[in-house]
Amino acid sequence: MSDLQIAAPLLPILICPDPLLRRMARAVTPGDAEEVRALIPSMFATMYKAPGIGLAAPQVGRLLRVITVDVAPDKEPAPLALINPEIIGASAETAVQEEGCLSIPEQYAEVTRPAQVRVRYQDEEGARREIEAEGLLAACLQHEIDHLNGVLFVDYLSALKRNILLRKLAKAQKDLQAKR
Ligand code: NI
Repeated sequence: MSDLQIAAPLLPILICPDPLLRRMARAVTPGDAEEVRALIPSMFATMYKAPGIGLAAPQVGRLLRVITVDVAPDKEPAPLALINPEIIGASAETAVQEEGCLSIPEQYAEVTRPAQVRVRYQDEEGARREIEAEGLLAACLQHEIDHLNGVLFVDYLSALKRNILLRKLAKAQKDLQAKR
């Protein structure tokens, strides 16, 4: 768990099958500036606390195209917030990573995605930026951008694997509620 603590209100993370997780998030416009300025620190605080390496705004109930990532919070914290991120290039070569999701707690599966991606986005100051990623960061960016389109990592699994995983999740959530 990261020592990096961000003084911002924590947000409740929506758990699958919450219907908001399946909605399309809309692009951030200049009119959203104030909301996004408050949202990003809270997303980082929530992500680090969870702990997780990525979070998308729909996971905290905001249907805006905003994601936060930090794939190595224990080593060298490198918080990265991406507004209106867009994959503008992807390698033909693929890679397999074991993925999990804060909205699908404690369930993991191997997912195959392009090994390298190029992502265009706006930073917190509204500047246009691009990032080229490979390895875990590439998978994480693709996973989080998927959330903005209502896509979850389980969608990449066979129907059989997906159903088993979602049934395990439903049971774990039910047990958790029974304990409360
Ligand atoms: Ni996720």
